[in-house]
Amino acid sequence: MRFYIETLGCQMNVLDSELAASALIRSGLTPAKDKFDADVILFNTCSVRQHAEDKVYSALGRLKVWKDKKPCSVLGVIGCMAQKEQKNIFHRVPFVDFVLGPGSLDALAETVHQLLDEKVSGSRQAKKIVTALNRKGSLHSDLVESYRLYNPDRTQNTAERQSNRETAHPALIRIMFGCNQFCSYCIVPYVRGPEQSRMPEEIIAEVQSLVRQGVSKITFIGQTVNSYIYRDGGKTVKLADLLYEASKITGLEEIDFVTGYPKGVDETLLQAVRDLPKVLKHFHIPAQSGSDNVLKRMNRHYTAAEYRELTDRIYSVIPNSSLTSDFIVGFCGETDEEFEKTVDLVKYCRFRNSFIFKYSVREGTKSAEIYEDDVSEAVKKYRNNRLLEVQKQGACQS
Ligand code: SAH
Ligand code: SF4
Ligand code: F3S
Repeated sequence: MRFYIETLGCQMNVLDSELAASALIRSGLTPAKDKFDADVILFNTCSVRQHAEDKVYSALGRLKVWKDKKPCSVLGVIGCMAQKEQKNIFHRVPFVDFVLGPGSLDALAETVHQLLDEKVSGSRQAKKIVTALNRKGSLHSDLVESYRLYNPDRTQNTAERQSNRETAHPALIRIMFGCNQFCSYCIVPYVRGPEQSRMPEEIIAEVQSLVRQGVSKITFIGQTVNSYIYRDGGKTVKLADLLYEASKITGLEEIDFVTGYPKGVDETLLQAVRDLPKVLKHFHIPAQSGSDNVLKRMNRHYTAAEYRELTDRIYSVIPNSSLTSDFIVGFCGETDEEFEKTVDLVKYCRFRNSFIFKYSVREGTKSAEIYEDDVSEAVKKYRNNRLLEVQKQGACQS
């Protein structure tokens, strides 16, 4: 039996697809080169903007022919949309067999095999939903337990990556799960669950094992990677400590980390980045807006002046560092004056690159509940293009 995984969304999903592929290979399935040759197709999905969800629904719709031709096949939706949409997916695409959220990946192989067996034996075929608890209305301890940390062996894929080393991307290592920031526009805390930092020994052992298999570049990933904190008795381990530990590994050449949050970038972290030759002098720290009013409505806990000070601090400690950022334009109530403040910030900070997104309402988030999406599509588009232009003109080349 062959499987195919289509991945959308951020690096969290890229990593999850890699882990899922490994688990499926270990369970006896083979990767299919072509999607339509597969017996099992999985969509690893993203919910961050409406457009990302629309893309999945239309791609799923196009699989009807494949599904009709292969009655014993299994179609699954995994990733953030699975957690957010749950049974809505079956309503919109009735031939989907299961949905399984990012906190339940450890149950993936078993779920796929159960469904394949049911299909082959012709027994009753029930749709399956495997998700973590909903963040709203659940007890914190139950919630944490329901988002199960998932770090299985991924030897099989690493071997593949190794055969392709020239073009290989850095290996992704998750150091923390979830997010506790609750930016008012963002669905991530609801679909990825509460913040949980992984045990440092486990992270370093994973890096060592990957390096033994030929990996030379790694990226530590987390939604707010600089809030990584692991407490064990009297000992506290932070991101800077992980960078020092990983740097000691012979054979490892390059270390990067994403995504940063503008609060809590402390001196120790800056010094670690400055002093450790293996660590890239790069910070991806999304500002989102340059207007204090908008930042307040977004529930980001800093002002534009504080963000500027942060970039000043980074450039003064590490003059050759490169900064990248994300921005949302057309957030609820954003006036021309407020948008101009974002333009000013982009001009000031000399980002190497900025990723610019038009605000997209996410049902279930605070901003969807309390604000109106009152900036027209035309204005969002104009501001998006304008900011891109400003970014291009002011881009720092380092
Ligand atoms: N954890 C990261 C990134 C999360 S999602 C962070 O905190 O910055 C990646 C980017 O998508 C965000 O930085 C934001 O710019 C954008 N984004 C998130 N929700 C959005 C929404 N509802 N509409 C438009 N863009 C959004
Ligand atoms: Fe979303 Fe904010 Fe968390 Fe980033 S920090 S994932 S934007 S809630
Ligand atoms: Fe999308 Fe989930 Fe990442 S919503 S941006 S795939 S954490």
